[in-house]
Amino acid sequence: MQKQTKIKGFIFDLDGVITDTAEFHYKSWQKLADEEDLFFNREVNEKLRGVSRMESLNIILADQDIPAAKKKEWTDRKNEYYQKYLTEISKADILDNMEAKLEKLKAEGYKLAVGSSSRNAKKVLKQLKITNLFDIIADGNSVERAKPAPDLFLYAAQGLGLKAAECVVLEDAESGVEAALAAEMRVIGLGPESRVGKADLVYANVSEINFEEIIKKL
Ligand code: BG6
Ligand code: MG
Repeated sequence: MQKQTKIKGFIFDLDGVITDTAEFHYKSWQKLADEEDLFFNREVNEKLRGVSRMESLNIILADQDIPAAKKKEWTDRKNEYYQKYLTEISKADILDNMEAKLEKLKAEGYKLAVGSSSRNAKKVLKQLKITNLFDIIADGNSVERAKPAPDLFLYAAQGLGLKAAECVVLEDAESGVEAALAAEMRVIGLGPESRVGKADLVYANVSEINFEEIIKKL
């Protein structure tokens, strides 16, 4: 943790931090799994938090060997189901006061970025009507190597014109916390210690996030 460096920007994961799309991802995978007779349940779903679409399918398949073309068809179909759910979301789906918190940080002069593994991130932000709060949106299309590689967060920092040490990441996934640490950024974990305990500071849920405390402590 780079305590001595002044915080100049915040990089927000999207799913599970700004909005809770995890349930839609779950339902979409479950529908595909039922159709294709794949083993899937909520426990397996927990392992998919923060993980890219194809890597999620690989986790569901465990060691089953499936041709690449079929895997592409399955991930496309899962995405179709997911995108249908996305048409239903609106401002009301922004988690606990997050919009007001983002607006306050922006007014205080902090740079704000999204750093999400999702290729649907821009679509989600548009539905939530908060795209303009962010200086840069780094998503699943921005870099090759997904979380836990540091690439996405480094790309976001570069887009903000900041050094890694000047950025704080907010994450709800173990892979995301690892990615932020690999990028040598400070990181706030959201969720149980068992999942995000490696973070510099942990809040049990989004409603407990306290930016004054973060700025003071980190
Ligand atoms: C992450 C989610 O934000 O995005 C994962 O936590 C999801 O569950 C990943 O698999 C990729 O999303 P998408 O929208 O590109 O399928
Ligand atoms: Mg997440």
